[in-house]
Amino acid sequence: MNDARHVPVLKDQTIEFLQPGPGRRIVDGTFGFAGHSLEFLAAGSEVLGLDLDGVAFEQGQSLEKEHPGLQCRRISFRHMDRAMVDVGWDRVDGVLLDLGVSSWQLDDPGKGFSYRFDGPLDLRFNQDSGTTAADLLAELEEAELANLIWELGEERGSRRIARALIAARREGPVATTTQLRQIVQNALPRGQKIQPVLSRIFQALRIAVNEELPALEETLAKLPEVLGSGGRFVVISYHSLEDRRVKQFIDREKRDCLCPADLPACVCGHEKILRPLTRKAVKASDEEQAINPRSRSARLRAAEIL
Ligand SMILES: C[S@@+](CC[C@H](N)C(=O)[O-])C[C@H]1O[C@@H](n2cnc3c(N)ncnc32)[C@H](O)[C@@H]1O
Repeated sequence: MNDARHVPVLKDQTIEFLQPGPGRRIVDGTFGFAGHSLEFLAAGSEVLGLDLDGVAFEQGQSLEKEHPGLQCRRISFRHMDRAMVDVGWDRVDGVLLDLGVSSWQLDDPGKGFSYRFDGPLDLRFNQDSGTTAADLLAELEEAELANLIWELGEERGSRRIARALIAARREGPVATTTQLRQIVQNALPRGQKIQPVLSRIFQALRIAVNEELPALEETLAKLPEVLGSGGRFVVISYHSLEDRRVKQFIDREKRDCLCPADLPACVCGHEKILRPLTRKAVKASDEEQAINPRSRSARLRAAEIL
């Protein structure tokens, strides 16, 4: 079932770059509700769909019955090489990472991804393992919490908010989205809008809980190995911390030498391993943004392994 609550972002551009078709194997590292994968399958590709979310995985398993070319695994994309061994694949022709959280996860109060609903402060993609956001808020020192909110949320009021959270937890655990919202509200100067601040704090907690940046970096480093020569990858990011990492990876790996420009000869021996397919990040058209507000922050980058 393709759930209409999540509209796949930059779908046409993803297809253009990954060129799904008969005989072409694709790893969809962020399977979700199969928005992109169903297109790959329809074009004749075989798909290995990975997702940490239990609901997405179950949906994937039921789709396997209708689509013999589909295999799903509940595992992080950072272990895509392991998942490939599991299904007997050596190399693949395409990898998609459509990062972050999907609309249906945001709308599920039980996951705690959104400050709009009352729910547990969980924020894990895989709710069966790992540390929750409530655990993090219970464990971190004030300075660590302030750094997390600043570095992963780019929230200027990080110190003030961390101080308020630490004060609040002396009264009892901060365990729900509503509690967090109220603490942040009380910590803000009069007149400051709370929604953007909450968005940044929830983003920071989500990135930390799910180790999203290390997972992305590890996965980028694996791509040349899992993709054969001529294999292509597409990464769709939704905030600058992710997009910057993808950009830096492509910029670095498209170059033959990484030595400072003033060195007379190369001493690093670095050899390029990819060819960028996107010069700048591709954004959703005005039309797509109007239909699907989630696509507004999307940035797509793609490259081909040499
Ligand atoms: C933006 S959604 C993908 C939506 C999908 N492309 C579609 O059109 O239906 C991101 C998905 O990636 C999953 N996810 C996030 N981080 C992951 C990781 N490290 N490994 C596997 N899945 C992950 C989330 O659970 C979510 O289902």
